[in-house]
Amino acid sequence: MEIRKVGVVGLGTMGAGIAQISVESGLETIGREVAPELGERGRATIERYLARGVEKGRLSEGDRDTALGRLTLTTDLADLADCDLVIEAALEELELKREIFAELDRITRPDAILATNTSALSVSEIAEATERPQRVVGMHFFNPAPVLPLVEIVRGRESSEEAVDAAYAWAERAGKQPVRCNDTPGFIVNRILIPLLNDCVRVLDEAGVEPEAMDKAMTNGAGWPLGPCALIDLIGIDVHVYASAALHGKLGEERMAPPERLVRMQQEGTLGRKSGRGFYEY
Ligand SMILES: NC(=O)c1ccc[n+]([C@@H]2O[C@H](COP(=O)([O-])OP(=O)(O)OC[C@H]3O[C@@H](n4cnc5c(N)ncnc54)[C@H](O)[C@@H]3O)[C@@H](O)[C@H]2O)c1
Repeated sequence: MEIRKVGVVGLGTMGAGIAQISVESGLETIGREVAPELGERGRATIERYLARGVEKGRLSEGDRDTALGRLTLTTDLADLADCDLVIEAALEELELKREIFAELDRITRPDAILATNTSALSVSEIAEATERPQRVVGMHFFNPAPVLPLVEIVRGRESSEEAVDAAYAWAERAGKQPVRCNDTPGFIVNRILIPLLNDCVRVLDEAGVEPEAMDKAMTNGAGWPLGPCALIDLIGIDVHVYASAALHGKLGEERMAPPERLVRMQQEGTLGRKSGRGFYEY
């Protein structure tokens, strides 16, 4: 199946990055936001990233302009009617996503592929809101989406191999490194990384280790490119606590529950890079 036009629902942190990947891969892309100013903010984010690409010599000014010219904005979901692939990156709320998928099911062609970028919800439960669960898949990007190559292509209970393969092929064509997996809590990377990062945080208190020393230990002893405390600061303490709680809720393993220290940091508004302070000062 050939994908010629892509729709992106939500141009927040992830959606703007996904739309950028799509326009840079040469496809006409339509981004839908709930208000025009939010759409413009998404476009400005993409412009900023592309400008940085020009500065670094990664793309020419002409390429940048051509890529930006492929992006259109709308507030009306119905404008996504002629898309071959729609990637949803709205808030992480099951009911909201189900409403969006039911609406996309009504307006898009029956063979269009509908994908969700959910991190912690069930792809299958989202797919059940449609009459075409076989055309629904997960496409889980990592933040920042234009930079991190991995995309987890998630098979819902009823996803067809054809839809999974089409999503995989699209991601590969866009220069990503896709991998396929079943619809299980945390998929691949978060299922492993969340409890591991929580262990690192618990060891800070148990073993009396400062964050700098922990990061020194894991970069020098385990070969991590970035220490766990620096990584959690980058992810955002709030995002990590939320993801931990979601995984713990589904799988019940104690290591998955957010460590007390992180919950305290979240309550104090010490959220990592985005708030200027986490384990480190920024
Ligand atoms: N941030 C990450 O690190 C990350 C990584 C992978 C996946 N995700 C997933 O991506 C999705 C989006 O996350 P984000 O970090 O980009 O969030 P965000 O808050 O930056 O963006 C959320 C988007 O949802 C839109 N929205 C709000 N209310 C809406 C409504 N009623 N109807 C439709 N859209 C609405 C917002 O306008 C915004 O565009 C979530 O499912 C999240 O779990 C996030």
